[in-house]
Amino acid sequence: MSAFPDGLLDGKTAFVAGGTSGVNLAIALRMSELGARVAVLGRNPEKAHAAADTLGRGAMALASDVRDYAATQESLRRASDAFGGLDIVVSGAAGNFVAPALDMSANGFKAVIDIDLIGTFNVFRACYDFLRRPGASLITLSAGQATVPLVGQSHACAAKAGINHLVRVLAMEWGPTGVRVNGLAPGPVAGTEGMARLTSTEEAVQRLSSRIPMRRYAHGHEIAEAAVFLCSASASYITGTILDCDGGAHLGDSST
Ligand code: HXC
Repeated sequence: MSAFPDGLLDGKTAFVAGGTSGVNLAIALRMSELGARVAVLGRNPEKAHAAADTLGRGAMALASDVRDYAATQESLRRASDAFGGLDIVVSGAAGNFVAPALDMSANGFKAVIDIDLIGTFNVFRACYDFLRRPGASLITLSAGQATVPLVGQSHACAAKAGINHLVRVLAMEWGPTGVRVNGLAPGPVAGTEGMARLTSTEEAVQRLSSRIPMRRYAHGHEIAEAAVFLCSASASYITGTILDCDGGAHLGDSST
């Protein structure tokens, strides 16, 4: 079910970092269905081309690593040149693995901080010069771990907490030029690589689902609808917020 009319994003352009799979691909797909021209960025060129083929409608495939500022800037430049500027930028590239801090090397911690937090700064900072302003909308993918600590997730908890505050500062700094910056915090999403890493058995899925008020994982399209809302004109006065889209999981453990 969707409340959005066909053509909602006609004439808009979108750049989705991490848009080659999972939730970010669902977001890219929905934006494309609603009329936006979409560029998807991933590390793997084959996956990027496959994602663009899935999207159709003149979608663009780009391959670079968000940890590399110059490469990120070049990918954004290519999308902007092809599309005539960018209206929507989604920073969704993320990395994760489950390990207690004592089993994590400094480099393992840094890898996730670099992809999630530094990557979000790189995408947002580099995209600014290519935005069609006023009216541009930026979102990043946060997570409940930003506010609720989770064992085995010291790197992602720290990265996502940093992302939430980065969103707030950029919203303050860029609001005067008509650029909105928000975060979207999904809970568990069915069928994603991230959830396969965090809950690898059916028993673990059932256990986690039983704690969520909605008693289930999200479907990718539910996260995509929330992303479209934040990037649409319907959210024209919303900036600096982190929207929980998690079936109520942020409220705490609701198992009985
Ligand atoms: C302990 C590990 C590890 C593990 C990797 N490392 N996996 N340590 N347990 N399971 C360590 C490595 O030993 C290495 O440290 C360091 O991390 C970097 O690993 P590399 O493989 O060299 O790095 P890289 O190729 O850059 O890969 C980054 C990555 C990887 C994050 C480690 O998993 C990745 O690329 N992931 C991308 C896809 C992904 O994770 N998708 C899920 C995102 S879901 P040493 O010391 O040996 O050099 C998501 C949403 C979940 O984020 C919501 C929660 C916030």
